Amino acid sequence: MPAYPKVTLRKNLGRALRQGHPWIFRDALAESSAVPSGTVVAVAGREGRPLAHGYWDCTGPIAVRVLDLQPVGELRALVCARLRLALAKRLAHLDRKQTNAFRWVHGEADRLPGIHVDLYDCVAVVRFDGAGARAFYRDLDGMLAECSAPLFLSQVVDREQRGGNLGEIEVRENRIGFMVDLGHGQKGGLFLDQRENRQAVAGRAAGRSVLNLYGYTGGFSLYAAAAGASHTDTVDIARPALATARRNFQLNGLALKDAGFHAADALTFLEQAARRTRHWDIVIADPPSFAPSRRALPGARRAYFRLHRLAAAVVAPGGLLCAASCSSHFSRDEFLASVERGAAAAGRRFRLESMTGAGFDHPVLPAFPEGDYLKFAIGRVD
Ligand SMILES: C[S@@+](CC[C@H](N)C(=O)[O-])C[C@H]1O[C@@H](n2cnc3c(N)ncnc32)[C@H](O)[C@@H]1O
Repeated sequence: MPAYPKVTLRKNLGRALRQGHPWIFRDALAESSAVPSGTVVAVAGREGRPLAHGYWDCTGPIAVRVLDLQPVGELRALVCARLRLALAKRLAHLDRKQTNAFRWVHGEADRLPGIHVDLYDCVAVVRFDGAGARAFYRDLDGMLAECSAPLFLSQVVDREQRGGNLGEIEVRENRIGFMVDLGHGQKGGLFLDQRENRQAVAGRAAGRSVLNLYGYTGGFSLYAAAAGASHTDTVDIARPALATARRNFQLNGLALKDAGFHAADALTFLEQAARRTRHWDIVIADPPSFAPSRRALPGARRAYFRLHRLAAAVVAPGGLLCAASCSSHFSRDEFLASVERGAAAAGRRFRLESMTGAGFDHPVLPAFPEGDYLKFAIGRVD
């Protein structure tokens, strides 16, 4: 077993580490280390006993991402075993004839801290969280290729370094076709974490009119239209995303006459709709994170409240409001309170029917609340 360089904790994190928290912040350490990013270190308690092992990052607030409490042994074998396990868990749940776009690796929750890997048919899109991850997983391309059986992997794309020459590919999610541009797509393709929530909306959409705010390339609208919605309106500020949404409707043979695409700020769209007393049976609001950091929370609270007030106001009586937040800093309780208070401020009452999070391929560790980011509430608005 190699002798790992040692870093010593200043704070008492023994319990959190034993429970499975995977991050050690730099300010929790007694002193820094001179080892290069990506080096495996042993993390010792104040009394000197090793508590955990992880890789070092010279930059950023997270100094160590924990791999294991025990010494980690051969690193390539460790990473490959975890890659294979993560893929097996996904394939046990998914019918690839219906869905060939999904998250293969969800970082810390798959015990592969600092990386996310999304699979779009034969193309893997990788995100590294910082210099430590980049250095630790330096042969990730090779390891992904080695561990991808029974799938065929043709290409690995680094989200930060992708160029424009990849071209578009067609993928399917629950049999619905999507064009994704992995060279240009703002998030490297689809918001895969909403797959099950798109399905939940589809299950309620037959014969209903649907307003999809922050609709990106049409995900919720496509599911609703395919399930028999009477009309869908998709609103997004990004024209290219809307152009793809329209093409996705065509790709799926869905009638464009029953689909509106609106390049607009969602809040401005809602204010105008309210002035015209327009209503929809189902209103979906899935905004980008309003609180990317804890510091942004006060402004984010106001923004979420305003969105929830304006969105509730355009729900037809007895219709559904489906509200999402993808900020881990905005807690489930706060989010739900914002939806309820927003509806009340619009003179309406929100009754929760279901509250979910991200899909199964984005698992959450109970000891790691920072990883629990997505909230999706569906409720009746009287
Ligand atoms: C979280 S994504 C939505 C994902 C989408 N619901 C799906 O299932 O694919 C947020 C979207 O909000 C859009 N957006 C950002 N600011 C906006 C604004 N002020 N008004 C409307 N859309 C906005 C972005 O272009 C992005 O497509």
